[in-house]
Amino acid sequence: MAELKRAAVVTGGAAGIGLEIVRHLAGEGMCVVAIDRDSDACARAQRTLVMGEDRVRIITGDIGTLDGARKAIETSIDMYGRLDLLCNNAAVHPLEFVEEHALETWSETFRVNVDGTMLCSQLALPHMKRQKSGAIVNIGSISGLMPYAGGSAYAASKAAIIMLTKVLALEAGPHGVTVNCICPGSIRHQLSPGEQIEEIPTHIPIGRYGKPTDVAHGFLPGLRSRELRYRICYRARWWCDCRSEPSFVTTALRRQMSHRSE
Ligand SMILES: NC(=O)c1ccc[n+]([C@@H]2O[C@H](COP(=O)([O-])OP(=O)(O)OC[C@H]3O[C@@H](n4cnc5c(N)ncnc54)[C@H](O)[C@@H]3O)[C@@H](O)[C@H]2O)c1
Repeated sequence: MAELKRAAVVTGGAAGIGLEIVRHLAGEGMCVVAIDRDSDACARAQRTLVMGEDRVRIITGDIGTLDGARKAIETSIDMYGRLDLLCNNAAVHPLEFVEEHALETWSETFRVNVDGTMLCSQLALPHMKRQKSGAIVNIGSISGLMPYAGGSAYAASKAAIIMLTKVLALEAGPHGVTVNCICPGSIRHQLSPGEQIEEIPTHIPIGRYGKPTDVAHGFLPGLRSRELRYRICYRARWWCDCRSEPSFVTTALRRQMSHRSE
C-alpha cells in the first residue's frame, strides 16, 4: 500500500471534464482512482497522464451498478487505505422530446446519473465517517436548475442530483463530511474534426464556452472548505435565459438527430 496520502475517486474520469478533474487533483498531490465504462478512453487517459499508476489508477466499470460503484470505492481503500474525496461526475446526456422519449433512454439516464451518484455516495460514506472527514462533490448542471426543450431526462436527473446533494449534506454533515454540487453551463471539450472552437456563442454572456479547467478549478471550494454543508455552485457566466430560445434548441436537436442517422 502506498504511503498515507489524500485519496480521491472520480467517476467518468477517463475523458472530458472528469479527466481534467483527475489531472487537477493529481497535480495538487492527491492519489486518484478514476472509473469509466469506456475502456478505450481509460487506456488513452492512462497513457496521457504523466503520473504512474500508483498515483492515478484508471479502472473500467459502470458506476450505475452496485458492482461498478463498489469497485471504484474499494480500489481507493485497497490502494491508499482511505477516501477523502468522491467526485460523482459520470453522466449520460440524451436529447429527446418527451412525446418521443424512449423509456429505455429515460431509465438509462436515471440509472447512470442518479443511481450512480447515490450508489457511490452510499459506499463512500462509511469510510468518510470512519475518518471523520471527507467531501462528496456532485457534478450537476445548469440544466438541473433551468429547463430546456429536449432535455427532460437529463434535466430531471440533474435536478434529482441537486436535491440528493442537499439531503446528503444534512445527513453527512454531522460526521464531518461535506457534500456539494457544481452546476456548470456549456462546457466544450470535444470537437468533431473540422469544427471550430472560435464560434462565438451569442446565448452566453461571457461570449465563450466554458472549458473543463473552469470546472476543475471551480471544484476546489467544495473540496477544501469545511464550512460548506452544501453549495450549489451556479456558473451563471456561461448561461443566460436565451438557452431555451427555439433556434438554439432546434439546432442542437438537429445536430443530434443527424449524428444518429449517419
Ligand atoms: N459538457 C457540458 O457542457 C456540461 C455542462 C454541464 C454539466 N456537465 C456535466 O459534467 C459531467 C461531465 O460531462 P462531460 O461533458 O465531460 O461528459 P462526457 O460525456 O464527455 O464524459 C462523461 C464520461 O463519463 C463516462 N460514463 C458515462 N456513463 C458511465 C457509467 N455508467 N459508468 C462509468 N463511466 C461512465 C463516459 O464514458 C465519459 O468518459 C457530467 O456530469 C455532465 O452532466 C457537462
